[in-house]
Amino acid sequence: MTHVVTENCIKCKYTDCVDVCPVDCFREGPNMLVIDPDECIDCAVCIPECPADAIFAEEDVPADQLPFIKLNADLAFAKGWTSITKRKASMPDADEWNGKDGKLGMLER
Ligand code: F3S
Repeated sequence: MTHVVTENCIKCKYTDCVDVCPVDCFREGPNMLVIDPDECIDCAVCIPECPADAIFAEEDVPADQLPFIKLNADLAFAKGWTSITKRKASMPDADEWNGKDGKLGMLER
């Protein structure tokens, strides 16, 4: 089991989540974070920290977000996606993108 970052992180990347992770399981891409499923210990402390409500336990991922389970794993191991352990500034216009549908096509890898 793991926790999963879903679509609403894209173009927001608030990074509040990384400050509370006890095992440093977040990996950073250009405009989204993912969780390394091999590192996540399912503590769930990141869920309420995300201003975009983008993080779910694997068993709670909404039906339309299920592809993100595999996407988190694939991107966590992707070349160039590296560990992030300290909060930093969110993406520009994060608040405007928070809650917008159809952001998957804007995912940068
Ligand atoms: Fe993304 Fe939420 Fe973390 S927007 S970077 S999962 S705090």
